[in-house]
Amino acid sequence: MSAFAVAVDGPAGSGKSSVCRGVASELGMRYLDTGAMYRAITWAMLDADIDVEDAESIAAAAQSVQITSGTDPHKPTISVNGQDVSEPIRSADVTGAVSAVSAVPAVRQLLVELQRDEVAHAGASGIVVEGRDIGTVVLPDAPVKIFLTADPAVRALRRAKEDSERTNVHVSVADTEAALIARDEKDSTRASSPLTQAQDAIVVDTTELNLQQVIAEVVSQIKAARGA
Ligand code: DC
Repeated sequence: MSAFAVAVDGPAGSGKSSVCRGVASELGMRYLDTGAMYRAITWAMLDADIDVEDAESIAAAAQSVQITSGTDPHKPTISVNGQDVSEPIRSADVTGAVSAVSAVPAVRQLLVELQRDEVAHAGASGIVVEGRDIGTVVLPDAPVKIFLTADPAVRALRRAKEDSERTNVHVSVADTEAALIARDEKDSTRASSPLTQAQDAIVVDTTELNLQQVIAEVVSQIKAARGA
């Protein structure tokens, strides 16, 4: 039997990672960041000097990339062929190339299979899975589906702050907003499972909410679904 799964989708900077990690920690659940998996495969392509616009080469090379996800919400990890790539997958190079790589159907097929496998092995504690197509494609039968949104300006502000803190280099909010809007556009208009809201998802607009408020809202939806 598959584990109890919570599907959380939404655009870049909507707060998915912080919210999902907080929710999973509070409820003792596992946590899977599927965006990190698309970033990891993109990192592997760049590392092997493969042209990210060449879908055929990407599809072929993806078959020999081994991606492993650590699902502890306190310390999520991601590795490619045994090498921890948690840091480099957040680089600007990977962020700039990830939409092209994640639009390749063979890549999606491979990763969706891995994601479902991870859910199947999550055990009794259940798992919170974040991404773009979790409620629509990966886990269409998930008992709880959340779609997080926020105004682009607020998303850019959050992402620029996060990136500045992580790299110790000032990151421009205006540049971040432009890049974020471009990435949303690509992720929402690609042919293969684009970012869309599942019809049965609960929409949470995080523009005016702080992290604790969003976590509390999602936790209460999960408790209601679990009958707790
Ligand atoms: O959540 P993130 O920004 O780390 O995701 C990186 C990219 O991966 C994002 O631009 C789109 C892609 N992605 C996807 O296509 N499907 C998912 N389930 C998760 C991410």
